[in-house]
Amino acid sequence: MLKGKNIVIGVTGCSTAYKAADIVSGLVALQANVDVIMTESATKFVTPLTFRNVSGNPVVQDQFADPVSWNAGHKKLADKADLLLIAPSTANFIGKAAGGIADDMLSTTILSTEAITVFAPHMNPKMYQKPVVQRNIKSLQQDGCVFIQQEKTMPSGKKLYSLLADVEFIIQEVTRLLEARA
Ligand SMILES: Cc1cc2nc3c(=O)[nH]c(=O)nc-3n(C[C@H](O)[C@H](O)[C@H](O)COP(=O)(O)O)c2cc1C
Repeated sequence: MLKGKNIVIGVTGCSTAYKAADIVSGLVALQANVDVIMTESATKFVTPLTFRNVSGNPVVQDQFADPVSWNAGHKKLADKADLLLIAPSTANFIGKAAGGIADDMLSTTILSTEAITVFAPHMNPKMYQKPVVQRNIKSLQQDGCVFIQQEKTMPSGKKLYSLLADVEFIIQEVTRLLEARA
């Protein structure tokens, strides 16, 4: 059970963005409080209403939105989070986080939080294998960020780590990380 735990989930512009709704739903079922931050690209794949519905909380997108939403703004979410999970995470977002860029609500929250920061990437294997992407992942790991990845086998038999881990696996890992820090 995750009663009393505050989890912030950042959803980025991946083809698997819709799977984040199942992650949110699974964590809410374990009684976590879940807030969702979406990048602008993520909203092209899934509507904020989907996450509003499964999380029960307003979805945060624009860091310069009307002051009424500042209550759920980057500082509040950054301070209240026990764990920040970016799932699925684009190559772009990993690069932004590794470079210390804070030009939207999610990247600003990452830079402002002391919570465990966890990435569950999803990208095509060619993107994943680019040296710059590998460097960015390593750099974030060296800074203490956690990557949730799972070996996947393609129909061709090729084994990959670039695709989003299974929803259940992500939920288990998040639970394990939170329990380890309790
Ligand atoms: C149909 C489509 C699917 C995409 N899927 C992915 C993906 O799975 N992983 C990824 O890293 N980028 C993917 N991209 C590229 C990102 O959406 C793009 O880099 C975007 O700028 C990411 O913005 P964000 O990181 O702020 O969410 C996709 C783009 C399109 C048009």
